[in-house]
Amino acid sequence: MKKLVVLFVAVAITLACASFSFALKKDIEFKAVGDEGSVMFSHETHTEKAKMACKECHPALFQMKKGADVLKMADMEAGKNCGNCHTGAEGKPFSIKDKEKCGNCHKK
Ligand code: HEC
Ligand code: HEC
Ligand code: HEC
Repeated sequence: MKKLVVLFVAVAITLACASFSFALKKDIEFKAVGDEGSVMFSHETHTEKAKMACKECHPALFQMKKGADVLKMADMEAGKNCGNCHTGAEGKPFSIKDKEKCGNCHKK
C-alpha cells in the first residue's frame, strides 16, 4: 500500500512537471490593443537562450498566469514589465523606445 502511494505521488509529480515545461514551450501572446500588432513572448528565448532565472521576472514583473498582466507602453517606458530589462542600456537587451526595434516585439 505504501509503495503504491509513493508510486502515485511520483507519477503525479512527473505529469505536473511535463505539463509545466509544455506550457513554457508555448509562446504567450499579448493581443494588440493599438495597430502596432500583437506581441509574442517566448519563455524559451529568455530562460534557455538568455539563461534567466524564473525569479528575474516572477513575481515582481509578471504573475505566473497567462493574461494576468495588462501591459502598457507608458508603464514599460517607466521601467515596468518588459521595460525593466528592454532599455538598450549597456548589457541590456534592445530598448522598447527604439523606433527601429518596435517590430522585434510587435508582429502584424
Ligand atoms: C520588449 C517588447 C516591446 C517593444 C520593443 C515594443 N513594445 Fe509596444 N507593447 C508591448 C506589449 C507586450 C504591449 C501590450 C500588448 C499590446 O497592446 O500589443 C505593447 C503595447 C503597445 C501599444 C498599445 C497601447 C499602449 O500604449 O500600451 C502600442 C501603441 C505600442 N505598444 C507601440 C510600440 C512602439 C511604437 C514601439 C517602438 C517604439 C513598441 N511598442 C515597442 C511590447 C513591446
Ligand atoms: C523574462 C521574463 C520571464 C522569465 C525569466 C520567466 N517568465 Fe514565466 N512568464 C513571463 C510572462 C511575461 C508571462 C505571461 C504573464 C501574463 O500573461 O500576464 C509568464 C507566464 C508564466 C506562466 C503562466 C503560463 C500560462 O500558460 O498561464 C508560468 C507557469 C510561468 N511563467 C513559469 C515560469 C518559470 C517556471 C520560469 C523559469 C523557468 C519563468 N516563468 C521565467 C515572463 C517570464
Ligand atoms: C528580466 C529581463 C527581461 C524581461 C523582463 C524581458 N526580457 Fe526580453 N529579453 C531579455 C534578454 C536578456 C534577451 C536576450 C537578448 C539577446 O540575447 O539578444 C531578450 C530578448 C528578447 C527578444 C528577442 C528574441 C530573440 O529571439 O532574439 C524579444 C522579442 C523579447 N525579449 C521580448 C520581450 C517581451 C515581449 C517581454 C515582456 C513580456 C520581455 N522580453 C521581457 C530580457 C528580458
